[in-house]
Amino acid sequence: MLGPYVDAPTAQLLLPQARQMPQIAWQIIRNALEQNPHARDDINCLTELLATGGQVANGINTDRLDTSAVAEPSNFSLKPAERLPLTDECHHYTGKHEVPWDIQKYFSQRYSIFSYYDSGVHMTDDAWFGVTPEPVANQIAYELSEDHYDPEKTILIDAFGGAGGNTIAFALSERWSRIIAIERDPATLACAQHNAEIYGVEPGSVTWILGDSFEYLDQLVNSPEKLHPDLRVDLQTTMVFASPPWGGPGYRTDEIFDLSTMQPYSLNQLHEAYKKMDHVLFLPRTSDIRQIAKLAPEGEKLEVIQYCAEGASKAMGVYIPAEKPPASSD
Ligand SMILES: C[S@@+](CC[C@H](N)C(=O)[O-])C[C@H]1O[C@@H](n2cnc3c(N)ncnc32)[C@H](O)[C@@H]1O
Repeated sequence: MLGPYVDAPTAQLLLPQARQMPQIAWQIIRNALEQNPHARDDINCLTELLATGGQVANGINTDRLDTSAVAEPSNFSLKPAERLPLTDECHHYTGKHEVPWDIQKYFSQRYSIFSYYDSGVHMTDDAWFGVTPEPVANQIAYELSEDHYDPEKTILIDAFGGAGGNTIAFALSERWSRIIAIERDPATLACAQHNAEIYGVEPGSVTWILGDSFEYLDQLVNSPEKLHPDLRVDLQTTMVFASPPWGGPGYRTDEIFDLSTMQPYSLNQLHEAYKKMDHVLFLPRTSDIRQIAKLAPEGEKLEVIQYCAEGASKAMGVYIPAEKPPASSD
């Protein structure tokens, strides 16, 4: 419908809406793009043109246009993030003397965390504690590759983007048609975007969100119309990867870690947020397997993988299928 204007940046912004919009709306948009080259780049200009009713003069009734599709992007509380600048909190340490004492252990493992570390990988001090080491991130990406996991899943949501360890591996696997990565801390998100560039991740192959992933997933499941059009995805073809922060009483000391006390998010809180989609939880290696088993759908078993490096387990990956919709009474 948009002919030569389909690649215009403003048109691209509207494409995720394509199915919901009537044909007439696309005609109106095409007219506007044809008549005003500025509207091809500037969503405000396009929105204004459509709203001023210029098309009515051309005999097209704008009342039938789904205006939510062309709403000003800043009206959405969650929207794709811009490329954020690195801040004073983002560091590329080059020598141990610069590194705070509590992350020196991780700094000495920097090349097994990011093999391209010396190319300028940046991290916030907090991110060192939670980043998934590259070999583990690559193994998870491999586990989810089309040969090993349902190829009908084509969209991946990384609910806790961090400094980009997992997101980068998912993007480099080239298995996903879309990746949406969410991180609520702006400095950490800036590091992730920067690190993805260092690793040669195609710009645009990851949609970054600066925000709360629980809010995003809640809106995605319950009120997708509230989301920016670029963030609306089909639940059936989407899966969630979640590597939440690990903490809580006994997390470092208990032989078996009680996931109901995990902080800041318990096992149930995570599962509740993701259960409509297949999801992978990346959990402490000592996690209580009995609590995990309870999440298996009726009559099914869950796959649980211990991810090891240098002979020791580093973490547990739990692969959980989407909850089945209730059987229809027909
Ligand atoms: C364990 S780290 C993730 C590490 C990441 N997989 C990596 O390899 O770099 C958890 C991250 O989740 C972020 N976070 C915590 N709660 C969040 C929330 N509700 N929504 C989005 N991000 C959150 C934290 O700021 C932190 O960067």
